[in-house]
Amino acid sequence: MDVQASAQSRPRVPDDIARIVISPKSYANDDVIYPAFKWLRENMPLGVAEVEGYDPIWLVTKHADIRMIERNSKLFHNADFNAILTERAGDEFTRSINNGSLKVISSLTYMDPPEHGAFRTITSNWFLPGRISKLKEQIRALARQSVEHLLSFDGECDFVKDFALHYPLRVIMTLFGVPPEDEPMMLKLTQEFFGVHDPEEQRPEMVADPVAAAKMWYASLQDFYAYFDKLSEDRRREPKDDLLSLIANSTVNGQPIPRDEANGYYVAIATAGHDTTSSSTAGGMHGLIGDPEQFALAKSDPTAISGLVDEAIRWTSPVKHFMRNSTEATEVRGQAIGAMERLMMCYPSGNRDEEVFEDPNRFDIRRSPNLHVAFGFGPHMCLGQHLAKLEMSVLFEELLPRLKSVELAGDPRFVETNFVGGYKSLPIRFEKA
Ligand code: HEM
Repeated sequence: MDVQASAQSRPRVPDDIARIVISPKSYANDDVIYPAFKWLRENMPLGVAEVEGYDPIWLVTKHADIRMIERNSKLFHNADFNAILTERAGDEFTRSINNGSLKVISSLTYMDPPEHGAFRTITSNWFLPGRISKLKEQIRALARQSVEHLLSFDGECDFVKDFALHYPLRVIMTLFGVPPEDEPMMLKLTQEFFGVHDPEEQRPEMVADPVAAAKMWYASLQDFYAYFDKLSEDRRREPKDDLLSLIANSTVNGQPIPRDEANGYYVAIATAGHDTTSSSTAGGMHGLIGDPEQFALAKSDPTAISGLVDEAIRWTSPVKHFMRNSTEATEVRGQAIGAMERLMMCYPSGNRDEEVFEDPNRFDIRRSPNLHVAFGFGPHMCLGQHLAKLEMSVLFEELLPRLKSVELAGDPRFVETNFVGGYKSLPIRFEKA
């Protein structure tokens, strides 16, 4: 294959579409982002976006391509570059303070084989469905508390701010074994960590300036580390039956887990586990509000809840991308990709791929099979997927029988982010059952 020749003729994504896909703002508006993805799937399912300030990146918008690339973790690495799409200036800053490396955090996301497997094994059994299901009653108790809180509002509230945002955080903190009084601090840190572009989630100076944003990110990380160092020490001195103790006391290749890797693990689990789940939960409620027949079905038939959960996650796709890079020259969908090129896995696009999902924009809890890629695919596929689904199922099981009716009390609003986010606000009016 003549990679050089093909590289010159590679398809360049039209600038307006490229800007839409890269810009955090677009993800706050379904009417902007989804038509752009549709155009790409139909016209240029694999094309290079060249947007000022960013490295050139291949936009991967087809479900099959996302799965193929993610399955092949030797040919497509996570972490030779940044596993998240950031502006070049931000990456340069990161390199300047990080010994030339873009590996800003020693978490699973920033690892490749064989390191990735060695670290993922530490917790992979803990996150399997059989082990996770033992936590069901503990999680149900938290779900009940959250539902009581929602019902305490007088028929009107913000489903995100007053309800969905807090519960997944409570679950993950309980499983970690950290005290409830630390939760607001964890919530704030996570939002800074993920929502770096949204003016409402972020200090204003951080939004416009990629270096300031990278600094902010780094500062959040240091705060997380300081917090978790202390907890790690506690669990080494006095292990408990919790996830923190499992990680703090683990060994890799016969050696105790290093400090950075332990902290990277905590941060990944603490942050990955709540904005994602809360957004999907809000998406599920929004979908039900839009279709009273499906609301009635989910209320009357508990077996419909797992379909509701999967569809909520597909429809919302709270993780907007992860990056991969080619390790050698290769070919995907007939396009020559050179070595060390960057590719953006556009999960929301894969989840609306007409070749896989009939009427993909429709919210349909009866959809079966529902082989979405909202959790990614392959060796890096979401570690917490079974926990996320269990949490959401239990919450809907507790919530839906308590609601007679629910409707929108205002327009939903979404976080401006090209990474992790979704609903910022979902005002609802409800009648108790
Ligand atoms: C990775 C989505 C909930 C922990 C990922 C990835 C996605 C994702 C797309 C990257 C997969 C890839 O690169 O192929 C979601 C969604 C969630 C959710 C949509 C909720 C609806 C959770 C929860 C936890 C968690 C509850 C933990 C308690 C992780 C971790 C990784 C990960 C640790 C890194 C895995 C690795 O690189 O090996 N998640 N996630 N996630 N997720 Fe989740």
